[in-house]
Amino acid sequence: MVRGKQQLLLLLFVLSAVGSRIASADTNPQDAAALRSLMKKWKNLPSSWGKSNDPCGASWDGILCDGNRRVTSLNLFAMTIRGTLGDDIGSLTELRVLDLSSNPDLGGPLPAAMGKLVKLEELALIGCSFSGPIPSELGNLSQVKFFALNSNKLTGSIPPSLGKLSSVTWLDLADNLLTGPLPNSKDNGTGLDQLLEAEHFHFNRNNLEGSIPEYLFNSNMKLKHILFDINRFVGPIPPSIGAIPTLEVLRLNNNGFMGQVPSLKNLTKLHVLMLSNNKLNGSIPNLAGMRLLENVDMSNNSFTPSNIPSWFSNLTNIMTLTMQSVGISGQVPQELFSFRKLQHLILSDNQLNGTLDMGSNINEGLDLVDIQNNGVTSVTVYDSFKGQFLKLQGNPLCNNSLLSDTMPCTGLQTEAPRQPRTIEVQCAHPFIETIVFRAPSFGDVVQYLPELQNNLTDKLNSCTPNQLSLAHSNDGEYLNVEIKACPVNQKRFNYSQVLNCFNLTRQTYKPPELFGPYYARARHYPFHDKASRAVLIGVVTGSVLLVVGLTLVGFYAVRQKKRAQKLVSINNPFASWGSMGEDIGEAPKLKSARFFTLEELKLCTNDFREINAIGAGGYGRVYRGKLPDGQLVAIKRSKEGSMQGGLEFKTEIELLSRVHHKNLVGLVGFCFEKGEKMLVYEFISNGTLSEALYGMKGIQLDWSRRLKIALDSARGLAYLHDHANPPIIHRDVKSTNILLDEKMTAKVADFGLSLLVSDSEEGQLCTNVKGTLGYLDPEYYMTQQLTAKSDVYSFGVVLLELIMAKPPIHDNKYIVRELKMALDMEDRTHCGLQDVMDPILAKMGGLLGFPRFLKLALQCVEEMGTGRPSMNTIVREIEGIMQDYGLIPASMSTSSSFSIESRMMKIGPKLPYSSASTSHSTFDMDSRAFEYSAVFPSSHGSLKP
Ligand SMILES: *[C@@H]1O[C@H](CO)[C@@H](O)[C@H](O)[C@H]1NC(C)=O
Ligand SMILES: *[C@@H]1O[C@H](CO)[C@@H](O)[C@H](O)[C@H]1NC(C)=O
Ligand SMILES: *[C@@H]1O[C@H](CO)[C@@H](O)[C@H](O)[C@H]1NC(C)=O
Ligand SMILES: *[C@@H]1O[C@H](CO)[C@@H](O)[C@H](O)[C@H]1NC(C)=O
Ligand SMILES: *[C@@H]1O[C@H](CO)[C@@H](O)[C@H](O)[C@H]1NC(C)=O
Repeated sequence: MVRGKQQLLLLLFVLSAVGSRIASADTNPQDAAALRSLMKKWKNLPSSWGKSNDPCGASWDGILCDGNRRVTSLNLFAMTIRGTLGDDIGSLTELRVLDLSSNPDLGGPLPAAMGKLVKLEELALIGCSFSGPIPSELGNLSQVKFFALNSNKLTGSIPPSLGKLSSVTWLDLADNLLTGPLPNSKDNGTGLDQLLEAEHFHFNRNNLEGSIPEYLFNSNMKLKHILFDINRFVGPIPPSIGAIPTLEVLRLNNNGFMGQVPSLKNLTKLHVLMLSNNKLNGSIPNLAGMRLLENVDMSNNSFTPSNIPSWFSNLTNIMTLTMQSVGISGQVPQELFSFRKLQHLILSDNQLNGTLDMGSNINEGLDLVDIQNNGVTSVTVYDSFKGQFLKLQGNPLCNNSLLSDTMPCTGLQTEAPRQPRTIEVQCAHPFIETIVFRAPSFGDVVQYLPELQNNLTDKLNSCTPNQLSLAHSNDGEYLNVEIKACPVNQKRFNYSQVLNCFNLTRQTYKPPELFGPYYARARHYPFHDKASRAVLIGVVTGSVLLVVGLTLVGFYAVRQKKRAQKLVSINNPFASWGSMGEDIGEAPKLKSARFFTLEELKLCTNDFREINAIGAGGYGRVYRGKLPDGQLVAIKRSKEGSMQGGLEFKTEIELLSRVHHKNLVGLVGFCFEKGEKMLVYEFISNGTLSEALYGMKGIQLDWSRRLKIALDSARGLAYLHDHANPPIIHRDVKSTNILLDEKMTAKVADFGLSLLVSDSEEGQLCTNVKGTLGYLDPEYYMTQQLTAKSDVYSFGVVLLELIMAKPPIHDNKYIVRELKMALDMEDRTHCGLQDVMDPILAKMGGLLGFPRFLKLALQCVEEMGTGRPSMNTIVREIEGIMQDYGLIPASMSTSSSFSIESRMMKIGPKLPYSSASTSHSTFDMDSRAFEYSAVFPSSHGSLKP
């Protein structure tokens, strides 16, 4: 067998050698010689290189030729090439595209011979290790439109000859070690002021110096992005910069600019303006009329102290406004907080005084208001704003003992910043690439990542099928988004897919506008196993020396077996973590969950006897068990193949073991052994809410009991949304996932599990959307964008179920619609629902607080997520109803799990929550009358209305 294969290979080898000899006359000899010479200098080229002598005919990866067999494109993006760039490159005189980006081991000086590539249109040498000066010969590339040498180690100054790049639109020299001033035609003969086609001047992150002459810019220029940040520029900002009508992004921050900021008011297209960390003085520039501004930062300059500029109220599109230490005083205008895109407002280290009153119309996306170290003496906070996003340390109001230990005053954040729980794709050979966004408009990317993910997924999948996940981090001033793409229907991506699909360096991808300018750099991609490549060479040699070849194959077999063993141990994160715990390094970091052996669990379930099964689902079965210490547990045993791999299992256990709340079913432990994955939960004795409602347990739930169950489960969910880290969206809230213990305390079950369970669970839709029919948020179903408000919808259906005691879909009816149709608010007792509601309740007559409860439930099932209240708000409203109607034992009212927040907010006794900013309720009893404010006492002791 082996011998037969060897001979076949030999035959193929000989044939291909003959074939290439015949074709070798084809490629232009000058180009072929140049490529061969480059090949000698470079390691790790695609395996197609050198297989034949005809790069054009035999399609070497990354090479394109024209009809005359001249090489027109050399694209070796992210091939991990090691070596230097020699003068030979200058022989490829028909080259239009030269892209060697993302090869960090490719370095040395840039050869002057590159200046011979006079037909070049795109030059991309991004993210390599090129050093030394930029050769002035590059100024001869008069056809070049895209010229990017960023993220190398280039030194020296920018050669004035670059002023001859008359076609250039994209000029990127950022992130190097360049020094000296910017060349201009007046002082240096030629210079950057001549680049009238240029849209992008990206020179950020260098050591560029000197002042910027007035004549560097003029109104004939088409510049969109000027990135001069993080350099050593000095002197005034030239007024001519304010005359470029096309400008969208201006970053001059982190330099030594001095003097008065010139008028910028003609820059009506500007989105991003960053002037922070300079020595600017005079008055704060006037931005009135620059309506498109989204991100403004003028922090840390020496402006003349002034009142808050009036243009604060004109920035209707603002997303991030940062004015730290700029000498402003007075009161922040209320309109600012209502601007629909505002996310971050940072006004720390100023002289703001009086009351901070954000108004009742606070933008929902606002998630940071930093007013630290000012003179604010009182604050009015409204319910629609979360206290944890407010920073008030170092203001006189924090001297007030009532407030001094609240979250805004201590600066202690109980939670890390919110992160979306995106599911990370997993595969053996993902392609990983970082997109660096250099001037995003938003302050909080989390809200925009799904959009980017969809947009990128479309773009990449139109080229090669893949599954994508995104992660993000901030690198000082810039935003890094790491994309991880897994191949679909293949083990790895091949050379051509990487070169043609994932190469984003030449700006072929247009992200959503708010992300601003970017560049991309890829990680090393393993195109083959090192071992199998060695064997391939072995086989070829072996075709000459068969004996040696056979030996190598034997050697290969042994190695592959060893590799296979090694792989197993990687895929099983617990493999070396025995119950004795010798190798504790591999163990999951658990707060409280314990590790069970398969044997232990078999013992306590009578070998998983059918009689101990208490439930089943797509994931497998649930068994009742009794631990040796007498504790009753419920053991979830996954069906083979229904759960993800070991690493995800480990991550989930770590996550679940950190979640502790009296209204959540606690994780006792887990088992991961012999292909079994099991989760061990505390056993909840009174079954599910669904069983109780439908009378299956002989329990009758009276009205106050139902409110208490609603409150308990709302508290559990609010904890998952707001206090678990990372936040957990349940995704499958339903009455069968709410359990009742012996005291009828409700506990939410199965949170976090939705990520473990495969898509095809019974009763669920076979799409990316998870959940149970009848409870599913229609908005999530349509957009596939999961938010906490999807849980709120499902919870709203549970609330309706509590009223009607009917499954959400029954007799071809959907209870949400059924209830809305029957609704008649004129009927003060049952709101017209007596025929559709649970007969047990209907009999009871006047249910205390029923209209309010109904109104809450209906708001939860609003069509639009933005119209629904948060879980936290729901908790407070149900608490309010129970309190106001005396449906609650006195001890319960103080046991709020949100002690800091509830202390911070003084809530008027009869006023339910306000959703004034977002509610589009069709059923709007009198919500306008209910708008309330929670008020901080001012330091004078008076209360604001
Ligand atoms: C351009 O001219 C300025 C002013 O004469 C000089 O300081 C600078 O060194 C020149 N730059 C280059 C690269 O020659
Ligand atoms: C702004 O534009 C107006 C009208 O085009 C022009 O008169 C004025 O000089 C410009 N201002 C600046 C600072 O460029
Ligand atoms: C700025 O806003 C104020 C108050 O809303 C308004 O009176 C003024 O006209 C606006 N100015 C501009 C230039 O838009
Ligand atoms: C805030 O400060 C300004 C300037 O120092 C002063 O004129 C004003 O009266 C102060 N306002 C309040 C409410 O203290
Ligand atoms: C991505 O977003 C950009 C900018 O909004 C848009 O032009 C482009 O069509 C989008 N691409 C895809 C594939 O959705």
